[in-house]
Amino acid sequence: MADYVVEFGKDTPPLPDGRLDAAAFHRNHVPIWAVLERFLAGQSGDVLEAGSGTGQHVIFFARQSPDIVWWPSDFNDNHLKSIAAWRAHAGLDNVRPPLSIDLSDPAWPSAMREAGGPRDLAAIFCANVIHIAPWRVAEGLFAGAGSGLRADGWLLLYGPFKRDGKHTALSNAVFDTSLRAQDAEWGVRDVGDLERLAAGAGLVLREIVEMPANNLILAFRRQRADDVSA
Ligand SMILES: C[S@@+](CC[C@H](N)C(=O)[O-])C[C@H]1O[C@@H](n2cnc3c(N)ncnc32)[C@H](O)[C@@H]1O
Repeated sequence: MADYVVEFGKDTPPLPDGRLDAAAFHRNHVPIWAVLERFLAGQSGDVLEAGSGTGQHVIFFARQSPDIVWWPSDFNDNHLKSIAAWRAHAGLDNVRPPLSIDLSDPAWPSAMREAGGPRDLAAIFCANVIHIAPWRVAEGLFAGAGSGLRADGWLLLYGPFKRDGKHTALSNAVFDTSLRAQDAEWGVRDVGDLERLAAGAGLVLREIVEMPANNLILAFRRQRADDVSA
């Protein structure tokens, strides 16, 4: 079953402390971590999760990577509350309180730093956000990654994507139609369009990893100023 999520975190009622549970998390967190851990191997420092939703992913990832400091974020109040509740429930030293970040504002890294957030990110992970949001959210995500990531830092995107303007599966095409019917500004994004955003922000697509249920992980790397390789 595809792990598409629109009515997010409403699969079950919230727990009394505000924790939300997303069914997709239970299907996708293990395969996602199997890929992320390869990109984060040997890394320390700060990693931002953009659009954390319930907060379940960040808690699971933090348990697997005690040398990394994880910063969850979202801009929806119920989601921020859920993330804070999952954090309190887990009691992990390496998960910071959720940051309120609106990715559609390309200056979000400045706002993040002013709010006491990290100054220099080793990576940004963002799952299932940019197709359920207007295009300006993708624009803001990449623009911010260009200024928020350290040189050689990774922007890791998970979700359904088109390749060469075409859907990779019929189920993705159906999902895309349903998204656009709900909001004309939503829709499954094309890898080529994202590569163009990346180029404008000083990032390069280094790897595409095929994932279960016709999803992909796109791994973009911020170029160093002296890096001439593509
Ligand atoms: C479908 S949920 C995915 C949540 C989580 N990443 C996951 O995979 O379980 C999309 C998330 O994107 C967040 N989001 C949408 N627009 C956003 C924006 N402009 N800035 C930050 N987060 C946003 C929503 O609040 C929601 O938590």
